[in-house]
Amino acid sequence: MALRGVVAMDGPSGTGKSTVSRRLAQACGAAYLDTGAMYRAATLAVLRADLDESASEEEMTAVATGRDLVSGTDPAGPTITLDGSDVSAEIRGPEVTGLVSAVSALPAVRAEMVAKQHELIADAVNGGGGIVVEGRDIGTVVVPDAPLKVYLTASPAVRAARRGRQDARAGREADLHVTLSDVERRDRLDSSRRISPLYAAADALVLDTDNLSADDVLARLRALVADRGLEG
Ligand code: DC
Repeated sequence: MALRGVVAMDGPSGTGKSTVSRRLAQACGAAYLDTGAMYRAATLAVLRADLDESASEEEMTAVATGRDLVSGTDPAGPTITLDGSDVSAEIRGPEVTGLVSAVSALPAVRAEMVAKQHELIADAVNGGGGIVVEGRDIGTVVVPDAPLKVYLTASPAVRAARRGRQDARAGREADLHVTLSDVERRDRLDSSRRISPLYAAADALVLDTDNLSADDVLARLRALVADRGLEG
């Protein structure tokens, strides 16, 4: 049984959203799109132009837009390339994480990314396929008519601990206090920005993952996909 249509997965970082979104896509024979990776790659373009948070919106927008940014949709190994080179690992580093909320708040950057996302989603669903799309504004802005919207939450402490474990596995050094304050800082910025702020769509199913394992969340999602008749 394969997924048909779009599953919109939103929520802040550290809720296990990427893990379960990828696994859901794999389990349902669907494509997978990590929209956060796209904003991270745009942010890497800003850093590569030697700009930081002191740069003006105009300067950041000029280097973050119009780039050759290609996002893969294979859940077995999602890749993202910037100007022809694979940046999948580099976009997870602390410099990108520190600046991504500022870059993803730029209107022209969002407009360009959402247009790319619409193309990738159309490629996946035209012809009866399915795609799991994860981000912050998927159910509210990118695919407001998605037949299944899920919003994952978890307390900041649990999310920081998950981020810390991810960093350790990837060989990145992390201090739990720094990770927690980064999680809280990004929540504040992502939820309060003017364009497409982070919030749960009125028709999203909100799942608190504090006491749920990835397997538990995946089981809930698979049941929802089946209940809504999204497999064919
Ligand atoms: O999911 P992530 O941590 O990789 O996302 C990185 C940043 O990108 C996040 O702080 C906010 C931004 N983002 C966004 O503004 N809209 C999305 N659809 C996805 C991510």
